[in-house]
Amino acid sequence: MSLRVDTENLPVLKNDLIIRAARGEETERAPVWVMRQAGRYLPEFLEVRKHHSFFECCKTPEIACELTLQPIRRFKGLLDAAIIFCDILVVPEAMGMTIEMTPAPSLPNPIRTPEDLKRLPERIDVNKELGYVFEAVNLTRHKLNGEVPLIGFCGAPWTLMAYMVEGGGSKTYQKAKEWLYRWPEASRTLLARVADVCVDLLVGQVLAGAQLLQVFDSWASELPPVLYQEMALPPCVYIAKQVRAKLTALGHPGVPMTLFAKGANMSLDVLADTGYDVLGLDSSITPAQARRLVGHKVALQGNADPMLLYGGQHAIQAEVKKMCDGFLAGGGGWIANLGHGVTPQVQVDDFRCFLESVHKYSRRNPEK
Ligand code: CP3
Repeated sequence: MSLRVDTENLPVLKNDLIIRAARGEETERAPVWVMRQAGRYLPEFLEVRKHHSFFECCKTPEIACELTLQPIRRFKGLLDAAIIFCDILVVPEAMGMTIEMTPAPSLPNPIRTPEDLKRLPERIDVNKELGYVFEAVNLTRHKLNGEVPLIGFCGAPWTLMAYMVEGGGSKTYQKAKEWLYRWPEASRTLLARVADVCVDLLVGQVLAGAQLLQVFDSWASELPPVLYQEMALPPCVYIAKQVRAKLTALGHPGVPMTLFAKGANMSLDVLADTGYDVLGLDSSITPAQARRLVGHKVALQGNADPMLLYGGQHAIQAEVKKMCDGFLAGGGGWIANLGHGVTPQVQVDDFRCFLESVHKYSRRNPEK
């Protein structure tokens, strides 16, 4: 299948702040982007969503590109990265599962027992099933015109397995955890199948023009640390290794990789040795604690409370200043972000205030 991608003449990057921070450099100011920056808090996003379903947006490269660019355009000069508009659930969908947004994700035909693994293909052709992601990445990379780098992403195998087994979100993760405890070998098989698709999805995004990668393990915090490290982390380590190996084999220098193992703070010391360049932090840890746990092996990303954006601009400025002071004191590379995605009721001006506060308070003293 031929993809609509043009990898010749990609625009040269004009703002490499986030790349340098991801490589561990102490940058003159912290780069900033926000998880879910393309989303329902933006009126122009809601306008597009009136006319197109969520997956139509993901699967139409022109629309995905437009949604990716909306926050970059509106907050011109304030955001240091774009993240491709897509969803982590495109992987289970590419593996043949039905996903509905109602509006929360729901999978009407979940994987219930190891017998059900037979329903999943052992290998898939990513160019065929997920080529639309590569086309969206490539189009967006051209349209960004080098203004900021483009982040590609995927969900982590454990988080995707949880959706595939539970059939949607969950309070207790009872079914997904039952799998891990009762059927560890079948769980490993499922996680490995998902991981292989993630590797191909990430490599394809880089070849199409993505300049950084992030793996979202949103439900990492649901597992006790030992179980997380035994079951959920190994497939993420595999992904980092495989992506690098495949890119190297293709003569590509590779891109920085971020692991957002949300809330897995008791495992941060272990995560610092897994081959990821950046670790994403949620809001339940201080910058100093996080830096102490990881040393200077990795860059950090995060971690303001997403609910801070409802606290008014006075509080936003004060809390961002504390966050900046904390991360700058710890040294090393730091990418400012929230500890999780921006939520739909946030006022656009309060979001802007968050970005401006990072610009204001994260400058490193040139004398130091
Ligand atoms: O701006 C960006 O960050 C890029 C796009 C992006 C979306 N989803 C768009 C989206 C990214 C990176 C994701 C990742 C994602 N999707 C995660 C990991 C990050 C996280 O938040 O923990 C998860 C767990 C999902 C699964 C998912 N998709 C949920 C739980 C929901 C519904 C509830 C919600 O939080 O919005 C979605 C739908 C979704 N994905 C929306 C957007 C903008 C809203 C859907 C709509 O427009 O109606």
